[in-house]
Amino acid sequence: MRETSSNRLMTKSSAPGKIILFGEHAVVYGRPALAVPVTQVHAVVDIADASRPGIWIDAPDVNLNVELNMLPSDHPIASVIHNFLFLARVSKFPNLEIKINSTIPVASGLGSGAAVTVALTRALSAHLSYSMTDEEVNAFTYEIEKLHHGTPSGIDNTVVTYAKPVYFVKGSPIETFKAGQPFTVVIADTGISAPTKESVSDVRRLWMNDKSRWETVFDKIGEISFTARRAIEAGKPELLGELMNENHALLQKLTVSSSQLDQLVEVAQNAGALGAKLSGGGRGGNLIALVEPKIAESVSLSLKEAGAKNTIITQIL
Ligand code: MEV
Repeated sequence: MRETSSNRLMTKSSAPGKIILFGEHAVVYGRPALAVPVTQVHAVVDIADASRPGIWIDAPDVNLNVELNMLPSDHPIASVIHNFLFLARVSKFPNLEIKINSTIPVASGLGSGAAVTVALTRALSAHLSYSMTDEEVNAFTYEIEKLHHGTPSGIDNTVVTYAKPVYFVKGSPIETFKAGQPFTVVIADTGISAPTKESVSDVRRLWMNDKSRWETVFDKIGEISFTARRAIEAGKPELLGELMNENHALLQKLTVSSSQLDQLVEVAQNAGALGAKLSGGGRGGNLIALVEPKIAESVSLSLKEAGAKNTIITQIL
């Protein structure tokens, strides 16, 4: 979106957070996974022409207020800007004020890195009149994710770019899906930040040491994602609860859960959730619980009383 205010061109773009419903980690090894956007949280980027020389970045959520050249070129935000300017073949750097705000907690499995990259890329693309399709934004964001996350599957950038529920298989064309009947999920944050890169590389180490054992676990997770998609599209979300519990148990085997996640999963189940599991990279970050809408508030309260730092109630459509 571009608009002119006091003769200064300003551009704004935003991107949502995301949760993985089923299939994290196994998705890195080619199994299907389901992810949906979470529109209650956002990364928002505003760009204006600067009246001072340089590209000035103000990102209060991460305590950043600097000129681009003061940042190492592999800094997550700097790498987006440098790579974008290279892609768009901008030879003379423009003078810009870039403001980045995000309500998506960092390193919590809600896709904050992908959301900042997508919003920043789209804002730069609009501001500098270098048009990009969704497919191009997605591919660009995937390259940036690879710089910072080692071996990402590409699911985070895809769900955040398209802002639609996706059934994702690495290397296959993007498939979106729609719930036959809406269902409600409570998202709860353990408050423990856990970089996805670390849990992904720990799972890789396990896999390298005993491929056949872990391939069997990935297969089971992939089957859960496949079955879950059928249940969602058929309007039978009540079938998802048990699938969530099974998926969580398999993630425990992969060593990516934690005592806090396990405890909050149990709290959600005891408070009446139909099922619960960690969501995203694990070890900390967020968990999700499938609930009947009428008990969403009370499950959310129980999770907070048990130590969750924040909860979000979201409807999957
Ligand atoms: C992170 O949201 C999901 C993981 O499966 C990593 C990835 O797919 O890149 C843990």
